[in-house]
Amino acid sequence: MADDTKFLLLFLLLSSSSLCFGTEQDIRCLKSVQRSLADPGGVLRSWDFENDTDGYICRFTGVECWHPDENKILSLRLGNLGLQGQFPVALQNCSSLTGLDLSNNNFSGPIPQDISRRMPYLTSLDLSYNSFSGLIPQNISNMTYLNLLNLQHNQLSGQIPSQFSLLTRLTTFNVAGNLLSGPVPTLLQKFSSSNFAGNQGLCGSPLDECSTPRRRWRPIRIRLHRINDQSSIGAAVGFVVGFVVAFYFPHCFVCSERLRAYVVRI
Ligand SMILES: *[C@@H]1O[C@H](CO)[C@@H](O)[C@H](O)[C@H]1NC(C)=O
Ligand SMILES: *[C@@H]1O[C@H](CO)[C@@H](O)[C@H](O)[C@H]1NC(C)=O
Ligand SMILES: *[C@@H]1O[C@H](CO)[C@@H](O)[C@H](O)[C@H]1NC(C)=O
Ligand SMILES: *[C@@H]1O[C@H](CO)[C@@H](O)[C@H](O)[C@H]1NC(C)=O
Ligand SMILES: *[C@@H]1O[C@H](CO)[C@@H](O)[C@H](O)[C@H]1NC(C)=O
Repeated sequence: MADDTKFLLLFLLLSSSSLCFGTEQDIRCLKSVQRSLADPGGVLRSWDFENDTDGYICRFTGVECWHPDENKILSLRLGNLGLQGQFPVALQNCSSLTGLDLSNNNFSGPIPQDISRRMPYLTSLDLSYNSFSGLIPQNISNMTYLNLLNLQHNQLSGQIPSQFSLLTRLTTFNVAGNLLSGPVPTLLQKFSSSNFAGNQGLCGSPLDECSTPRRRWRPIRIRLHRINDQSSIGAAVGFVVGFVVAFYFPHCFVCSERLRAYVVRI
C-alpha cells in the first residue's frame, strides 16, 4: 500500500471514530439536558431516544444538526418553551455547539463562571428574558467567536467586564433591563443606548457621562459654603469684639508714648 493511501485510511479511521464518539456524547448531552430541566409544557419530553436511527436527534424540537443524518448538534434553540431550572451545564458535552438560545423561559441562578471552557465555539448566546442572576462572567470574554450576546431582561448585577472589549466580532449585544452598574466598556459603546437601558447604575457613552467627577466636586462646594458662612460670622464677631476692646482699653492699641498721653486725656 502506498504511504498516501495508508495515511488516508488512518485519517478516515480516526475521524470516523471521533465522529462516533462525538455523536454518542451529543446524545448523552441531550439526555442530561432533558433530565436537568423542569418542562411544564412537555416539549423536551417529546424528545424520544428509543428510535436511534442516524440523525434521529436532529428531528427533535429545538435541535439543529451539522448534517441531517449525523447526530452532531450545531445549535439548540429552546426559546419560549416555559423551561425552568439552572443553566444546563450538561451542554458542555454537546461539544460542537455553536448556537444556544434559552430566551423567554424561566431559568434562574448564575451563568457559569467557566462558560467559555464549557462551550468555547459559541457564535451566538441568547439568555434574554429569564431570571439569571449574579455577575456577568468575565470568562465570556474568552468566547472569541461570539457574534451575538443577548442578556437583556434578567437580574444580572455588578459591572459589564471591561475585558468584553476583546469581543471584536460582536454585532449584537444587549444587557437592557438588568441591575448593572459602572462604565460601558469601550468596544461596546458602538451599540445604541437602548441596549443598555433600564440599568440604574450603567454610565458612559452611549449613556450619560459617569458621575465620578461631579461627585468629587459636590462636597468641596458644600465645604466652601460652610467656610464662607463661618468666616463671615467670625469677621462680624471679631469686628464687635475689636470695637468693644478698643473703646474700653484704647491703650492696648496705641504704642506711641505721645499718643498714649493724648488718649488718656480723653
Ligand atoms: C424511527 O424513525 C424513522 C425516521 O424518523 C421512522 O421512519 C421509523 O418509523 C421509526 N421507527 C419506529 C419504530 O418508531
Ligand atoms: C459529560 O460526559 C461525561 C461522560 O461522557 C460525564 O462523565 C460528565 O459528567 C458529563 N458532563 C456533564 C457536565 O454532564
Ligand atoms: C416562573 O417560575 C415562577 C416560580 O418558580 C412562577 O411563579 C412564574 O409564573 C414562572 N413564570 C413563567 C413565565 O413561567
Ligand atoms: C475562563 O476561560 C478560560 C479559557 O476558556 C478557562 O481556561 C478558564 O478556566 C476560565 N476561567 C474560569 C474562572 O473558569
Ligand atoms: C481569557 O481572557 C482573559 C482576558 O479576559 C485573558 O487574560 C486570558 O489569557 C484568556 N484565557 C485563555 C485561555 O484564552
